[in-house]
Amino acid sequence: MSNWILAALVIMGSLFIVKLVFVSSILSVFAITRGAMFHPSASIRVRTFLDGVPMAHDELLIDMGCGDGRVLSAAHKRYGVRAIGYEVNPVAYLLAKLRTMSKQGVAVRWKNFWKADVGEADVLFCYLFPDVMEKVARKLESELHQGARVVSGNFPLPGWRHFKVFYPASSLNNSPIYVYRFPESCDPALRTASSRQPPLH
Ligand SMILES: C[S@@+](CC[C@H](N)C(=O)[O-])C[C@H]1O[C@@H](n2cnc3c(N)ncnc32)[C@H](O)[C@@H]1O
Repeated sequence: MSNWILAALVIMGSLFIVKLVFVSSILSVFAITRGAMFHPSASIRVRTFLDGVPMAHDELLIDMGCGDGRVLSAAHKRYGVRAIGYEVNPVAYLLAKLRTMSKQGVAVRWKNFWKADVGEADVLFCYLFPDVMEKVARKLESELHQGARVVSGNFPLPGWRHFKVFYPASSLNNSPIYVYRFPESCDPALRTASSRQPPLH
């Protein structure tokens, strides 16, 4: 067998193993995450969020389902904020740990966020899945403190009215990013089967 064929087989085998580990890590936590699988926000979406939601250096950002930690890391770099990310996918958790290990004030916890109290967040970020958004809304209503901002990538919070919405300038990644203020945005009476609510002005 020529060296070229051997090299091609090794590369293809390695890519297959990486893919297998990635898929297995998603499947291993599917019962917890349901549809909110590991799918990192594109960098333009992270930049749009940071441009649109300024933070003070002593504020705390929490990312519920932090993936590979890119949102925590970018927010810490831009604003010097403290940041906590919760993650249960083992591959995402390891990547997030690696990405943030030299960043003081940034913590990545291997924990199911449904079992965490997020009440200290000044800015709460999430990019999850429609099936869990109503439960997220109820959790935030019972835990957040007055004045907290909530940012949700792609999917709105049922029963909440956003006060800003951003569409990143990219044809591939221009799904909405909703921004809310607690408690002004929140009106559980509005919660209906449809999760789309008119904006708060
Ligand atoms: C769509 S990804 C978003 C990752 C990151 N926030 C970003 O924007 O790049 C959603 C992440 O949430 C995690 N996740 C979903 N449900 C979770 C739960 N109950 N506890 C902790 N992490 C969860 C998934 O493993 C996945 O990595």
